[in-house]
Amino acid sequence: MIWANPGVWTPNPSHSPAISGARRLADTIERMDNVAQPLTPTAPATSAPAPADLGALFRLDARRAVVIGAGSGIGQAIALGIAAHGAEVVCVDRDLAAAQTTAHQAGTGPGWGAMTAYQLDVLDTQAVTRAVEDLGAVDILVVTPAVNVRKRLLSYTGEEFDSVVRLNLRAAFDLMTGFGRGMAQRGRGSIIGCSSIRSLTTEPGQGVYAMTKAGLVMLLRTLAAELGPQGVRVNAIAPGVIDTPLTAPIKADEQWYAAYGAKSILGRWGRPHELAGAAVYLASDAASYVTGTVLFVDGGWTAIDGRFTPPS
Ligand SMILES: NC(=O)c1ccc[n+]([C@@H]2O[C@H](COP(=O)([O-])OP(=O)(O)OC[C@H]3O[C@@H](n4cnc5c(N)ncnc54)[C@H](O)[C@@H]3O)[C@@H](O)[C@H]2O)c1
Repeated sequence: MIWANPGVWTPNPSHSPAISGARRLADTIERMDNVAQPLTPTAPATSAPAPADLGALFRLDARRAVVIGAGSGIGQAIALGIAAHGAEVVCVDRDLAAAQTTAHQAGTGPGWGAMTAYQLDVLDTQAVTRAVEDLGAVDILVVTPAVNVRKRLLSYTGEEFDSVVRLNLRAAFDLMTGFGRGMAQRGRGSIIGCSSIRSLTTEPGQGVYAMTKAGLVMLLRTLAAELGPQGVRVNAIAPGVIDTPLTAPIKADEQWYAAYGAKSILGRWGRPHELAGAAVYLASDAASYVTGTVLFVDGGWTAIDGRFTPPS
């Protein structure tokens, strides 16, 4: 495990005798003050307290977020968006330098939370277990890493199939159950996974990736069903086509790039920062009644079939 410290990182108290019990208690009280308490399944709906400040619904102050894949693309934009709304953010990536670069972009203004970097290869199951221990009490977990081997199914090898499933599903499962356990014990938390428009629509060459993105939705929904009574919300963001290193091979093909841009209602590719708002929303009390759902951020890709625009 390698730590980087561009900001001020507070390790898991159980691993750090330097953190006093009084500080832990103060942290806990402060955090509880800032997190809406979940309804118990038996509580009448009318007992839900109205938020004191509707203008602060999206604020994430005094919460700790872990964003996996924060070194690039959508994960980077989400990490910065969440920190800009006040949460302390641990930028996790297998590429430590990339995670540090993201953490160094933290704003210094009063509304920003601290950002730190942590190296983790999520394919290493034991390292994931250690990270869950190291990172301690986490209020917000965002999982973004995925891989796509674009190949038609008849050409796919078993090894390629396994590698896509290993990262897109198994690693997501390890992370979400690992961090979800502590959230359930503490009675609060928000878990956000990264699905895709490919969970609903596919094309030749997207089979295994699309399968994992649809599978991830059901993993998240089941986790939502199982952890909801303990105050943990679980949702997915489903991006459309977003300009990131993952989609660089498409950008390199002019015709392919243009065709994807034209397919959505908005007629263009998305930019990574356009995903940040969805993550902030799902992480925050603004989404306190939102769980088990999929939020499409796709410029309308999945709303239309895109074949033809009839004359008006
Ligand atoms: N870019 C798009 O057009 C698009 C569209 C739909 C869905 N998505 C989904 O959004 C998510 C993020 O995509 P992106 O385009 O930002 O990708 P990206 O390749 O730009 O970033 C992925 C990040 O994850 C990290 N990572 C990869 N494997 C890792 C591992 N084993 N352990 C730890 N970190 C690892 C990488 O180092 C990188 O920083 C993915 O789940 C992807 O399927 C992307």
